[in-house]
Amino acid sequence: METSLPAYKKYLFVCENSREEGRCCAPDGNRLRELLKQSAKEKGLAGRVRVSRAGCLDSCAEGPNVLLMPDNVWFKRVRENDVEAILRRAAEGL
Ligand code: FES
Repeated sequence: METSLPAYKKYLFVCENSREEGRCCAPDGNRLRELLKQSAKEKGLAGRVRVSRAGCLDSCAEGPNVLLMPDNVWFKRVRENDVEAILRRAAEGL
């Protein structure tokens, strides 16, 4: 095993898990990830903020969920109109 510093300053993990029963983050998570990626690119954040697909983050009833690391900020019940606020938060300290 090897270790290194992460390639990006920040990571946004967007739950895209789907299941047949109960609440989950799909399909909204898929759409949110695409919007976050597109907007991050438009804002010039793409090289510093990585938007990644995640599996279940174990908070399904509060989804769709997005986790910002290493800031350790949890965004829950995210809607499309939250994308800009999430990216503003992700850009802090860059
Ligand atoms: S399905 Fe998204 S947190 Fe569980």
